[in-house]
Amino acid sequence: MIRKYTFGTPLPTDAIVQSLPAEKSPLPYFSAHTGEDGSLTLSLSLHPEEVIFGLGQAVRGMDKRGHRYESWNSDVFNHTEERPSLYGSHNLLVFFSPERLLGLYLDDPGRITWDLGYGNRSEAVITSASGNVDVYLIEEDTLPGIARSFRKLTGRSYMPPRWAFGYIQSRWGYASEQEIRTVAEEHRKRHIPLDGICLDIDYMVDFKNFTWKPDAFPDLKKFQGEMKEDHIRLVPIIDAGIKVEEGYTPYDTGKAGDFFCKKEDGSDFVAAVWPGRCCFPDFLREDVRRWFGDLYLPLLEAGIEGFWNDMNEPALFYSDEGLADAFAAADRIRSGGVDYESTWWLKDVFNGMANSMDDYRRFYHLVDGKPVRHDLVHNLYGAGMTRATAEGFRRFSPDKRLLLFSRSSFVGAHRNGGIWQGDNFSWWSHLKMALQMLPGLNLCGFLFTGCDLGGFGCNVTEDLLERFLQLGVFTPLMRNHSALHTRDQEIYRFSIWETMRDTVSVRYALLPYLYSEFMKAALRDEMYFHPLAFDYPADRRAVHTQDQLMLGGDCMIAPVCEQNAAGRYVYLPEDMLLIRFRSAKDYDLVPLEKGDHWIDLALGEFPLFVKKNHAVPLCPGGESSELLDDTRFALLGIIEQEGAYELYRDDGETSSPDLESGLTRIALVPDQSLTRKVNV
Ligand code: GLC
Repeated sequence: MIRKYTFGTPLPTDAIVQSLPAEKSPLPYFSAHTGEDGSLTLSLSLHPEEVIFGLGQAVRGMDKRGHRYESWNSDVFNHTEERPSLYGSHNLLVFFSPERLLGLYLDDPGRITWDLGYGNRSEAVITSASGNVDVYLIEEDTLPGIARSFRKLTGRSYMPPRWAFGYIQSRWGYASEQEIRTVAEEHRKRHIPLDGICLDIDYMVDFKNFTWKPDAFPDLKKFQGEMKEDHIRLVPIIDAGIKVEEGYTPYDTGKAGDFFCKKEDGSDFVAAVWPGRCCFPDFLREDVRRWFGDLYLPLLEAGIEGFWNDMNEPALFYSDEGLADAFAAADRIRSGGVDYESTWWLKDVFNGMANSMDDYRRFYHLVDGKPVRHDLVHNLYGAGMTRATAEGFRRFSPDKRLLLFSRSSFVGAHRNGGIWQGDNFSWWSHLKMALQMLPGLNLCGFLFTGCDLGGFGCNVTEDLLERFLQLGVFTPLMRNHSALHTRDQEIYRFSIWETMRDTVSVRYALLPYLYSEFMKAALRDEMYFHPLAFDYPADRRAVHTQDQLMLGGDCMIAPVCEQNAAGRYVYLPEDMLLIRFRSAKDYDLVPLEKGDHWIDLALGEFPLFVKKNHAVPLCPGGESSELLDDTRFALLGIIEQEGAYELYRDDGETSSPDLESGLTRIALVPDQSLTRKVNV
């Protein structure tokens, strides 16, 4: 059951697809308080055993209790435990204790603070800065029921084409066709599976969206065609800002259409990003989205089938005004005397120019024809860009799914694209953080997601990349991405590349299964990754487990997230089969009983646990998603009762996937063998 309570005059967000009347009675469970500044605060006492799931993209554990978070989409390079917010705002919480199961969604595009037992461990205090918010309460009997209801409220999750489940290699710095060909060749000659290569900003002319360097990419269509024959797709990046430059078509047409966000005086707001001074499309307007979506057409006509949208919080390095203020501050110090305090302060002034609140208050959107200051709708910007792109895809490619993932997002964007987890570091703690972020993202509808494997910033070590890949085997987006000037991070650069190749080979052997689990989750409004509590709500150990995850209907993952660990402890909430993978063809099968186990996992080894009377189909594998045989499987599982695995298959690209016609039942027959060959 979902109930809606309206406070103030909420702005439209596009998050909700199920329209509900607002309740007349007061909001139950929470005490609501309106501040003098118009803000709305909701407070709730917490049970000592209460777990709080949700918030999607956020640092720290799966259970969000015990810290303070914010909804404020931010371009942040350093994902420390202190970070209140990352790139997306996903305003859903699920409170779960022996006495309560309650979902809370705040449909509010502005700033929200979430004190979840930080000020006082026994209390959650949630504040909407504007106080204009639709509050939704979701009550169901089970945790998966809450997830399903929330998806009904907000719409079906985005489904990418099947090739997007292949391994994707990316790096900031690839600047030419020749360089990309080398990356492809190095993978192919070593038989490292590969389905895509990302083009970061260096493919563009002066970092200008929708351009590509004529010398470096003389015939993009031919190049993409040749790569596709080798089963590799190019995935270019598109940023939010449009460079201010007369004669550059996106700027000229945007200017002519009056499509850019405006300052109070009616002139275009300008701030610097990678290309220098840029204007920012007002993605909240339908006509602007249409214009922006059309800009993808030349790349689509060149055969491109996937994109990543970036810098869409929007990231602002500095505005003309911010720069002038900072220079004025420097002048004041120069004339007023320099000491250590003033130089520290000045450093803060210059650092604070990026993504500043002053800038976010300097420009306006048109919402239903009326100007609305950006900070009041800040968290919708990335979702608006995703929507513009997806609407364009639906016009230009109505029958075929295309790949899209974005950095910034808001609930609602999960219908239009995936997201990646942003600029993480090559840190062991960020491997664990990536794992812990997955169920929250899934709960909020973002099923197609993953982190930059190996870490984006800092220099990776080879064991860390291998352990990242072991997590990546299971994440829908499996992309190795790294920043300019960091250590080269392609698999073939490392002495243990064969170990890494074997790890990626497991992804391909599992790909038909993972695709099946993903599509079933999306089409049934379920989660692909979920906390153990969703399957074992009465098991206290399972409910409080922070570093293991259920995957689909049959499995559990428990990655190694520590350097030099020779294995790890794993808690099994029921009897399971351990598959200890070394490669697609080399694995141990070990039946284990419910309880605690130490699992030996040397560097090239990683586990998958399969519930009793469930089975996982493993195909023979291959080097591209398009070359996999999804008719012959080894079925791995402890089968003591008759049953079936429902395998979902389709052509991998249809825009109207149909669950019922895609399902094939594979019979599970009791036997002692743990593995059985099946043809389907
Ligand atoms: C941002 C993105 C990163 C990309 C870089 C250059 O930092 O998050 O993925 O490589 O910009 O485009």
